[in-house]
Amino acid sequence: MNKIPILMDCDPGHDDAIAIILALSSEKLNVLGITTACGNQTIEKTTKNAQGICEFLGRRDIPIAKGRNAPLLTPVYTAGIAHGESGLDGPKLPEPKAPLQEESAVVFLAKKLAESTEPVVLVPTGPLTNIATLILCYPQLIPKIDKIVLMGGSVVSGCSGRGASEFNIMVDPYAADIVYTSGIPIVMMGLDVTNFTTIGFDEKEKFRNAGRVGTLVADLTDYFGRGFEMVGWCGVPIHDACTIAYLIDSSLFTMKEMNVRIDLNGEFTMGSTVGDYYGVEGQETNALVGLASDRERFVNLLLEACAGYEKGERSNE
Ligand code: BDR
Ligand code: CA
Repeated sequence: MNKIPILMDCDPGHDDAIAIILALSSEKLNVLGITTACGNQTIEKTTKNAQGICEFLGRRDIPIAKGRNAPLLTPVYTAGIAHGESGLDGPKLPEPKAPLQEESAVVFLAKKLAESTEPVVLVPTGPLTNIATLILCYPQLIPKIDKIVLMGGSVVSGCSGRGASEFNIMVDPYAADIVYTSGIPIVMMGLDVTNFTTIGFDEKEKFRNAGRVGTLVADLTDYFGRGFEMVGWCGVPIHDACTIAYLIDSSLFTMKEMNVRIDLNGEFTMGSTVGDYYGVEGQETNALVGLASDRERFVNLLLEACAGYEKGERSNE
């Protein structure tokens, strides 16, 4: 089978960690590397967390490169409230043994794109700082990017506490603007779909029964789910894993093409993703936006991935 080459750019982050677990389990994907972004926590912490997850999964072969330590123009803004002091509070991960790549994330991404014989899918699940810098510094490599499948934004609702913006876009809106106006095809998994792509609180036991990796997913959702449980949700949104699930099986999602712009001026809405849902503005579409998912099939996909690790079926090694 022809595997899809992907580069993940993330800020683990509980749901980023689950995205990595899903990606590294899939026989359909070839993970060329992981780069880290400053988002849920500082760059030092998100990088250590990415390394810890790969170490836990026994995947020292996955190259990891550290990203920029702040958004392009705005101050560092982290999400300790959701992901804890470490960025991945809850489960204890092993100390990483594999060294980091010497290059920075952007140079590493450029190297991997240049080396690849086929276009690569970029999968950012944090603020878009590294991806925007890549686009600005290496425009000659844009044809090597097949598309960008990202978690960020929402065309219908928001979650950041700053008007209608979602965390990843709000943290680095200028980077998001560069990405959304780059002309590179975007698949946008925003809160419209990710808020409803949950692991139910009553489903965590199934994960605990799916072995060591399943138990880790349950522990991650325990911590990440606290806030959602408090406000009466029925489950924990696994935002970032929607990107990977889309690449594995796009039939899990209902998508709609539209033009999406980033609000860079709003006093309370800066970083909002403004989607022209009905196409009335006459602008060219630039994003395929996720609107709904088959939640149960998503959970089953994740459960199978966890069980696969148990059977030693890590077929993208
Ligand atoms: C996004 O924000 C982060 O806290 C999560 O990791 C996810 O990428 C959801 O808004
Ligand atoms: Ca994230």
